[in-house]
Amino acid sequence: MAETITIIDDRTGKQVTVPITGSTFPSSALRQLDPKLRMYDPAFLSTAACKSAITYLDGDAGILRYRGYPIEQLAEKSTFLEVAYLLLNGELPNAAQLETWTYDVTHHTMIHENMRKRFVDGFHHDAHPMGMFISATAALGTFYTDAKEIEAGDSLYKQTLRLIAKSPTIAAMCYRFSMGLPFVSPNNSMDYSANFLNMMFRIGDDYRTNPVLAKAMDLLFILHADHEQNCGTTTMRVVGSSHADPYSAAAAAAAALYGPLHGGANEAVVRMLQDIGSIDNVPAFIADVKAGKGRLMGFGHRVYKNYDPRATIIKKAAYEVFEVTGKNPLLDIALKLEEVALKDEYFVSRKLYPNVDFYSGLIYQALGFPVEMFTVLFAIPRMTGWLAHYSELLRDNDQKISRPMQWYTGVDSRDYVAINKR
Ligand code: CMC
Repeated sequence: MAETITIIDDRTGKQVTVPITGSTFPSSALRQLDPKLRMYDPAFLSTAACKSAITYLDGDAGILRYRGYPIEQLAEKSTFLEVAYLLLNGELPNAAQLETWTYDVTHHTMIHENMRKRFVDGFHHDAHPMGMFISATAALGTFYTDAKEIEAGDSLYKQTLRLIAKSPTIAAMCYRFSMGLPFVSPNNSMDYSANFLNMMFRIGDDYRTNPVLAKAMDLLFILHADHEQNCGTTTMRVVGSSHADPYSAAAAAAAALYGPLHGGANEAVVRMLQDIGSIDNVPAFIADVKAGKGRLMGFGHRVYKNYDPRATIIKKAAYEVFEVTGKNPLLDIALKLEEVALKDEYFVSRKLYPNVDFYSGLIYQALGFPVEMFTVLFAIPRMTGWLAHYSELLRDNDQKISRPMQWYTGVDSRDYVAINKR
């Protein structure tokens, strides 16, 4: 069977045949037919904007792999920092590489005093932590004169290290500011996730991070580390394509993540469960969703038309966390919603299943995070994915500055009308 596609322009009878490689064909075929011809593809439903060797996703089969490794295996056997190395470098680290990487990350967790005293202290007391995180990520770049040197020597590695190492510090600092609590410095003797929990929750000297909870945090970080060309990662690539520095690009990606249809959904799920209030109200809520009055948050996905594999892992982890923290009372409502929705024709026919955000918020809440922090908890590990894509983009010779075309639907041409004649 020929691995080609032939496109015929019925207006002119012209035709062009181009190869199909990896299920894609070059859109330049259209320009060969007619330089003005465009594919109209709002939200990129059928457009591959890049090649990528980082994450593989099969939405129909419910498969997610980082650099070829199934997410289930990484979730069970790996750690967040090892996964971060894998995403950035393409291979799992050997023992020496992991030791160096862990040392390097651990020794870049501090942030400049001015970030806290002058920058974060300037926010209003009730500023949303995600708004603070986005701004602080962009501001961080201004502290490094080499931030923009993305092609010089090991500069990009240094910026990558700083962003991955300092994201938990910034996140915890934003939280402590909003709570009016003193800032807790990073502790080099703790691992990435335990250190984050310590910076978040330490009050007094006898605070100890519970290892089960630190492990759950690490697992959530692994599951959120990358997800190929989602809205935030695409933003990272689009901004990065102008060769903006990685801090600015990551701030833009975090802004994209903030939206309730993307990373903001975990916050929306918990608020939704709180609004539903009791399992008795689930049928009425589902009826409202079917009547178009709002969405069932944490359900549905652009790519997964099957159970999101991350949701399966998170649901299991939730029970392990609840063993330590006690059950989150919203769990019963979530389970009932899932049960009702998965049997309902509306959700079944549209292939709407729980996504990563459906259960993650319940764990975050059990760990003690306020809902406003949930999207920040997504942004911390996703920083790694964004940076892996940023680096891949810079090394891809096919890439240029992103500049989509449009279908102009406005007024054709008209003469300016003086204000007294309008
Ligand atoms: N509740 C009710 N109906 C839904 C939902 C939902 N959660 N999601 C999709 N639908 C319906 C939608 O109304 C449409 O119905 P119809 O064909 O009758 O018009 C159909 O399903 C297809 O929906 P769509 O909006 O065209 O699908 P999409 O691929 O553009 O949207 C989505 C994907 C994730 C934005 C959407 O499913 C959604 O809004 N879900 C709720 C928010 C959410 O949980 N987001 C987290 C996504 S996973 C993490 C991440 O990406 O950050």
